[in-house]
Amino acid sequence: MSNPTIKFKRALRDIFKRNVPADDFVGYEKLVAFIKKRSLQRLDGDVIEIGAFMGGGTVKLAEFASKYGKKVYAIDTFEPGLDQTVSKSGITARAVYDAYLEGRSMWEVYEETTSGFDNIITIREDSRKIKFAREQKFIFGFIDGCHQEAFVTNDFYIVWPHLVSGGVLGLHDYKYHDWPEVTQAVDKLIDRHRDEIGEIHEVQGKYDILSVLLVKK
Ligand SMILES: C[S@@+](CC[C@H](N)C(=O)[O-])C[C@H]1O[C@@H](n2cnc3c(N)ncnc32)[C@H](O)[C@@H]1O
Repeated sequence: MSNPTIKFKRALRDIFKRNVPADDFVGYEKLVAFIKKRSLQRLDGDVIEIGAFMGGGTVKLAEFASKYGKKVYAIDTFEPGLDQTVSKSGITARAVYDAYLEGRSMWEVYEETTSGFDNIITIREDSRKIKFAREQKFIFGFIDGCHQEAFVTNDFYIVWPHLVSGGVLGLHDYKYHDWPEVTQAVDKLIDRHRDEIGEIHEVQGKYDILSVLLVKK
């Protein structure tokens, strides 16, 4: 494992004999900056994340949301082996998760990272089984779950009908050469919902991967 961040974390773990809080794949600071710039906290509703992994991004969203009495719904199976996706270059999603987990349980790392936050509602479930009550409102959603087209489409419809006017839905890996199904799914969704989308922004995150942020009219 040549990733310097992982090496550093491993060194700290060896010294202190415990895990340090996990980071995220995305660069959630940029998402929080966008939320702040748009003052989304003034809108009525909560935050949702699909694909929480080790909880590194979840806590960044939760820290912001807690200042305004808002909850963060975090959806994930927390089971690396359940994601059967294979990237264009032949890498399995599971191999990516395992490389970062280094033998640890995803669920245990997530629990440790998110401990101490009372505004995170964790839903440990396949996103295909999730449906929110009609009255649920979201001000911000971020989708970074399974990277297959059918899942991205599924996850979009978990959030979009509940997103308030002026709210924002972000999708990670919108432009990343190795997950082309995300791009395909998002382009179709943008086309289908063009009349409901006020603005489209692209945000460059970690590893030069682009997320797309859709502002609802
Ligand atoms: C790329 S990781 C998310 C990374 C996270 N956003 C971050 O930056 O730290 C994708 C996550 O989606 C989850 N996942 C994959 N398929 C899923 C499904 N059908 N339902 C719920 N979660 C799923 C995986 O378990 C994994 O934790």
